[in-house]
Amino acid sequence: MKIAIAGATGIVGTHVHRIARERGHEVVPLSRSTGHDLEHAAGTGSALADALTGVDTIIDVSGIQTLSRHRSIRFFESVSEALQTAGVAAGVRHLVALSIVGIDGVDASYYGGKLAQERAVQRGALPHTLLRATQFHEFAEQTMARGSLGPITLVPAARVRPIAARDVADRLVTLAEGEPLGRARDLSGPRDERLLDMIRRVIRARGIRRPTFEVRLPGLFGHAMESGHLRGTPDADRATLTFADWLDSDDAR
Ligand SMILES: NC(=O)c1ccc[n+]([C@@H]2O[C@H](COP(=O)([O-])OP(=O)(O)OC[C@H]3O[C@@H](n4cnc5c(N)ncnc54)[C@H](OP(=O)(O)O)[C@@H]3O)[C@@H](O)[C@H]2O)c1
Repeated sequence: MKIAIAGATGIVGTHVHRIARERGHEVVPLSRSTGHDLEHAAGTGSALADALTGVDTIIDVSGIQTLSRHRSIRFFESVSEALQTAGVAAGVRHLVALSIVGIDGVDASYYGGKLAQERAVQRGALPHTLLRATQFHEFAEQTMARGSLGPITLVPAARVRPIAARDVADRLVTLAEGEPLGRARDLSGPRDERLLDMIRRVIRARGIRRPTFEVRLPGLFGHAMESGHLRGTPDADRATLTFADWLDSDDAR
């Protein structure tokens, strides 16, 4: 099967790329570093449609780091539109997109863009599968990078049920190999964690000294993180690799 991966160079995209190749698929990586700016490709989509020639399925794991609802919506709507337009022109049969567990009713900040992406995927012409996953184990390091102010790190108060990006990638490739499902079963990690504890364990594992402080973020976004809403419901599929085991694994190095 020929699979295009939007965001193939990102945290989960790198795993999707590797797993798809290991399973014998031909892969077309799409990101700015491979010459495809998907946010600015809509309307001028012929280069993208050319890249999608012969592609059966697109897996969209592109993303942007922002807390601006407006910026997030613009990114995810633009990328979705570009993939839909070029995908239809190229005869793609299936779009698999990755969203986030527990964001219903959280039309704020970054999650506003993810909800807009879900709507764009659902109303688009391409048959789709939409997978929601919880925060990755790798989210701890992503949050550290965003929250570091000089020598200290500010960490949003958050209760999460994290999962290894490789487990999410494995599920995405399996979904890409199947027929379009609409909304797939949610996927979450094995146990609950406090984001502050995850970050402190990463810092310890790296052998660095860095004071960390928990901060309560305001509004719907902050409430979703702090309340544990983003952990999802008990009926989600649960992966087995815990944060502690992941931190001991090669993926964390
Ligand atoms: N991180 C989490 O905990 C988590 C949990 C659940 C779901 N998700 C979702 O999973 C997706 C991927 O997350 P991630 O953490 O793996 O993201 P990431 O590491 O930040 O990777 C983002 C990817 O998108 C590409 N990209 C960014 N802007 C682009 C543009 N204008 N055109 C084309 N490609 C572009 C980047 O490559 P270039 O920079 O080369 O363009 C990169 O390959 C996101 O949609 C996110 O909402 C993430």
